[in-house]
Amino acid sequence: MTVVEISQYGGPEVLKPATAPVPEPGPGQILIRVAYAGVNRPDALQRAGNYAPPADASPLPGLEASGHVAAIGEGVTRWAVGDAVTALLPGGGYAEYAVTDAAHALPVPEGMSMDRAAALCETAFTVWTNVFMRGGLQAGERFLVHGGSSGIGTMAIQLATLHGARVFATAGSAEKCEACLGLGAERALNYRDVDFVEAMKAEGGADLILDMVGGSYIPRNLDALANDGRLVQIAFLQGSTVELNMTQVMTRRLTITGSTLRPQSSVAKAAIARALEDKVWPHLVSGRIGPVMDSEFALTDASKAHARMEGSLHIGKVVLKVS
Ligand SMILES: NC(=O)c1ccc[n+]([C@@H]2O[C@H](COP(=O)([O-])OP(=O)(O)OC[C@H]3O[C@@H](n4cnc5c(N)ncnc54)[C@H](OP(=O)(O)O)[C@@H]3O)[C@@H](O)[C@H]2O)c1
Repeated sequence: MTVVEISQYGGPEVLKPATAPVPEPGPGQILIRVAYAGVNRPDALQRAGNYAPPADASPLPGLEASGHVAAIGEGVTRWAVGDAVTALLPGGGYAEYAVTDAAHALPVPEGMSMDRAAALCETAFTVWTNVFMRGGLQAGERFLVHGGSSGIGTMAIQLATLHGARVFATAGSAEKCEACLGLGAERALNYRDVDFVEAMKAEGGADLILDMVGGSYIPRNLDALANDGRLVQIAFLQGSTVELNMTQVMTRRLTITGSTLRPQSSVAKAAIARALEDKVWPHLVSGRIGPVMDSEFALTDASKAHARMEGSLHIGKVVLKVS
């Protein structure tokens, strides 16, 4: 099969087309004939040598894909050959075929095209686990998401709005701020012009912040939280080492937490998938929410897709057309 591999660690240009054997599904797994693969920042981190795949995962990049079930492993009862699925992958999405745990696949929402379906899992799983399970977002709370126009941000704004939260987002341009407002954010703050700490303090503080920036944002996030507020860290685009005065964590009863999706157990990911199918998939079917699509590239142009994403030129999701 045709794949795109990381030929060596480096910039987007190290992503090279290659051929590899079609993987075989093990017990409890399915083989997917990939239609589209989603592109995510963690793929770029892996490409740069900063995010090693788990030992038992494909070394190829690609954490999500849509397609049709091509084969099923022993013990799989949920899926049959030919079913249209969208799935979270442990890796290996930049390929014509990929294997994943059968319990990490979900049906393509009725009426949704395969390109859009490929853009769902990494963001939906990440937002669900961090904003709702860890962050405990409640209706009526003030929720601030940084990187509001990112793949993750666009899903977070929609799900938090659906949940009845008051949503605030930061983004780096007027166009990106407009996109955040269009998805349901009450206010979008262009971080190049507006101090999000002052803006959130004027609103009474954020009850929950979802942050992917880190670095100088970490102490500022604490300042921007309301008493009893929670900070959920999902990445460190600006770095993870900071000097921090922890006093207000104690005096204002703040919570700092975070998680990464990929190393979580198969059982934990399956539980997230079931929760999504129950709570989120009906809204994807009804069209009330949906992935925000930025652009599509051929699989063999994966390097161009990475350059677009890392240049922060995109709003929403970038996908690769595989077959
Ligand atoms: N923990 C997990 O399980 C998990 C899972 C998936 C993704 N992630 C992380 O979540 C983040 C978003 O992922 P994604 O795939 O949605 O990526 P993405 O679409 O490329 O989003 C990254 C966003 O960060 C913003 N940004 C970049 N540098 C910034 C800076 N210095 N200050 C403020 N904003 C900055 C960019 O927007 P502007 O142009 O507005 O700056 C961009 O929208 C990534 O960092 C990724 O690694 C974590």
